[in-house]
Amino acid sequence: MNNVSEKVKSIAPSLTLEITAQAKKMKAEGISVIGFGAGEPDFNTPEYIIESAKKALDIGFTKYTPASGTQELKVAICKKFEEDNGLKYEPANIVVSSGAKASLFHAISAIVDEGEEVIIPSPYWLTYPELVKLAGGKCVYVSATVENDYKVTAKQIEDACTDKTKCLILNSPNNPTGSVYSKEEIEEIAKVAEKKGIYVISDEIYEKLVYAGEKHYSIASVSDYMYDHTIVINGVSKSYAMTGWRIGYLAAPKDIAKAISSMQSHTTSNACSIAQYASVTALEGGADFIAQMQKTFDERRKYMFERLSKIEGVTCSEPKGAFYAFINVSKLYGKTFEGEVVDSSMTFAKGALKKGVALIPGVAFGDDNSIRLSYTISLEDIKEGIDRLESFIADLK
Ligand SMILES: Cc1ncc(COP(=O)(O)O)c(C=O)c1O
Repeated sequence: MNNVSEKVKSIAPSLTLEITAQAKKMKAEGISVIGFGAGEPDFNTPEYIIESAKKALDIGFTKYTPASGTQELKVAICKKFEEDNGLKYEPANIVVSSGAKASLFHAISAIVDEGEEVIIPSPYWLTYPELVKLAGGKCVYVSATVENDYKVTAKQIEDACTDKTKCLILNSPNNPTGSVYSKEEIEEIAKVAEKKGIYVISDEIYEKLVYAGEKHYSIASVSDYMYDHTIVINGVSKSYAMTGWRIGYLAAPKDIAKAISSMQSHTTSNACSIAQYASVTALEGGADFIAQMQKTFDERRKYMFERLSKIEGVTCSEPKGAFYAFINVSKLYGKTFEGEVVDSSMTFAKGALKKGVALIPGVAFGDDNSIRLSYTISLEDIKEGIDRLESFIADLK
């Protein structure tokens, strides 16, 4: 008999771990390493939210809450959806979970049956395929290339649909590519979803972080069909710099929300009561904080794109959302660094690390030709990091 179940055995270990562990070791040895790897804002949670959490403790808001979240938070989330996305939901449509990752896990498990297909645009956020596999579903990848600004077309999705397709996982603004789908592109995808009768799980966790005149559109708002067939995923992690607080949420048709809520009542139960209390406060304010964070990211984004697009052998498209740049480095493959052949995103990242710059290999996101860089570090560090990346590339023979 196996110690570990077949299902869990199929889950891929994190491919980024090796680079991160090596970078950490180098830092501990006193070697300077610029890390472009982080997936969270380098801002502290705003003070008004921290004060609210303290108040929750002071008033003894420390007990179980309803498994699917407090009524106050659900009401605040409904208000957010209406104001930001033009979506009218009731608390019965909402489930609050311990982070958006948990919301995604529950959403996928709730609608995907064994053997059903889930379309995932690739490059993708690395958790999606693993959650689909855990649910017994089959991943069908559709390629988003640098030439098409790392976006898939409605036609590609239509071509990928079969009679087994259950849903599409859409992520805009996107991790890892920083791409943002326009209103027209979202509408085209919605038409295909309706024609094919599929669901969309729309991960909108980076919705507040868009630049260069881009706007975020929720596919759920496109039509009645989409409203009834979309599970919107969002949370406070990225918008309010609250990654450690673990509050994510979803909006779904009521029958699905009810099923998710009862599943959650047997798995994690309610998300932390104190974090829920503070999230109500977060959602009720924060416009200034978000604007400031967005402005800072935008300055770094512009600088980074300008520098990266000038590097010989590197192809990139302008990232317009989230806080990542994704660069195609495959033209450099086949060269050597210190005698080692660079022929994959992992060997590229390993070589660059020797020059003191930690990058995330694209293979982790399903694209072995590319590298992800986060701009969640200071402009000064970004400058130094790109200098080192350039020097690494110049040394390739
Ligand atoms: C695309 C995407 N979705 C969801 C999440 C998960 O967010 P949370 O920290 O709320 O679980 C992340 C976090 O990195 C992400 O990048």
